[in-house]
Amino acid sequence: TWTMLNIAEEQIERVREQIGDTGLAICGLSGGVDSAVAAAIVQRAIGDRLHCVFVDHGLLREGEAEQVERDFVAATGVNLHVYDARETFLAALAGVTDPEEKRKVIGREFIRAFEAAEVEVLGEAAEHGEKVGFLVQGTLYPDVVESGGGAGTSNIKSHHNVGGLPEDLEFALVEPLRTLFKDEVRLVGEQLGLPADIVWRQPFPGPGLGIRIIGEVTADRLDILRRADAIARQELTRAGLDRDIWQMPVVLLADVRSVGVQGDGRTYGHPVVIRPVTSEDAMTADWARLPYEVMERISTRITNEVAEVNRVTVDITSKPPGTIEWE
Ligand code: XMP
Repeated sequence: TWTMLNIAEEQIERVREQIGDTGLAICGLSGGVDSAVAAAIVQRAIGDRLHCVFVDHGLLREGEAEQVERDFVAATGVNLHVYDARETFLAALAGVTDPEEKRKVIGREFIRAFEAAEVEVLGEAAEHGEKVGFLVQGTLYPDVVESGGGAGTSNIKSHHNVGGLPEDLEFALVEPLRTLFKDEVRLVGEQLGLPADIVWRQPFPGPGLGIRIIGEVTADRLDILRRADAIARQELTRAGLDRDIWQMPVVLLADVRSVGVQGDGRTYGHPVVIRPVTSEDAMTADWARLPYEVMERISTRITNEVAEVNRVTVDITSKPPGTIEWE
């Protein structure tokens, strides 16, 4: 709409003013809508002086890395640096089963990988005699309010002791979504021509599939969960329910095995749980009454197409007392 076009243009102009004619900016992409829209705005403002970094930690769902690497780049023309950290994350997660420990490990590895990617980008920029001075973040208005920051304040993020970088390198933050709510961000994203899969992506936790495998995270388990999750999402989309359902985690009970029967034989596979919920803000949630036909299709397809899974269960717990995620 006209208003959204206005919002986008206004933010693009602001970013242009903030960064000026020579500064370079760096932006981490997560696969989610906020970082994508923030990056698209800054790209419109300063073009190739924006360097986007995508850390592929291997914990995204099927197709999501491609959405960033191929579709987002095609739609925006951003300068993208992909940093493949899949092996590093798996090694760091080996033997880790406690949910908070998983979050800690993933958070730590993410910062390490992002900083290593930054060093690469900065190194290349330095070779061209350029200096990166700005860090783009997809902070939304509710985050600003929550953290008590006044509108318009420009924070500084410093880096300390990162190998290869000058000490105490400082980035000024560029936050083009600071005045926007989520629904406005999506509309701006549409206005800027971003892929619908990114713009309308349901909430997805930063630690990704790492906290949807109950038990140790391994490459095989990620592969199983990714295939089951892709089927569940396809069927939700096919039923036209994407915008009614807040999110629908698929959880792999990797340490549990259950007996089943298929064809002439007994199977001993893993259960998955589907957890469709409705919610306004994720603080509370209700279990979603998915139509039986949709649940049936999800169950039939997962057990037919994912050999390692022989049982599909539905979580009917609201929040509270359950959380949305299982970990
Ligand atoms: P819970 O499970 O606490 O989740 O009901 C509430 C919302 O937050 C998401 N979530 C996370 N997001 N890092 C994130 O960025 C996390 O560690 C994390 N844990 C949960 C969850 O998907 C839901 O939208």
